[in-house]
Amino acid sequence: MLSKTMEEALNRQVNRELYSSYLYLAMSAWFESINFKGSAGWMMVQSNEERAHAMKIYDYIIARQGKVALDTIEAPKAKWTSCGKVFEEVYVHEQKVTGMIHALVDLAIKEKDHATFEMLQWFVKEQVEEESNASQIIEKIKIVGDVPGHLFCLDHELGKRK
Ligand code: FEO
Repeated sequence: MLSKTMEEALNRQVNRELYSSYLYLAMSAWFESINFKGSAGWMMVQSNEERAHAMKIYDYIIARQGKVALDTIEAPKAKWTSCGKVFEEVYVHEQKVTGMIHALVDLAIKEKDHATFEMLQWFVKEQVEEESNASQIIEKIKIVGDVPGHLFCLDHELGKRK
């Protein structure tokens, strides 16, 4: 069974993953508003993945006889000034999430909760990929220039994400 402290911390992470899903959905909507269909699709896949992250922890809380406690999800912002700025925000956000996951790992170690420690290892690896994906896109935008006309091919490439 989960300790109260661990249960609360995991529930907080469910909320943060759902916020991430909401944030990327807002980014998808913004890309739609400027007709960048490929980037909108990339963000939609990202948003769906974040919901899956939340559900992974949700299912784990239940499997450990814990109680799921859903909280209010903060509203994300709705406007960005350029494509590059959106992906820079994704990168900063993912670095923040990595910090949250590492703090959960630290807590699992402190509590000697081996099962939670093991479950969180999936997230530790996932965060390496999440940060790397965002940083690679930022690098590509730097090469072509953060100008809608120049980003046409990149938008097409991002649209291939499944
Ligand atoms: Fe659920 Fe993008 O980390």
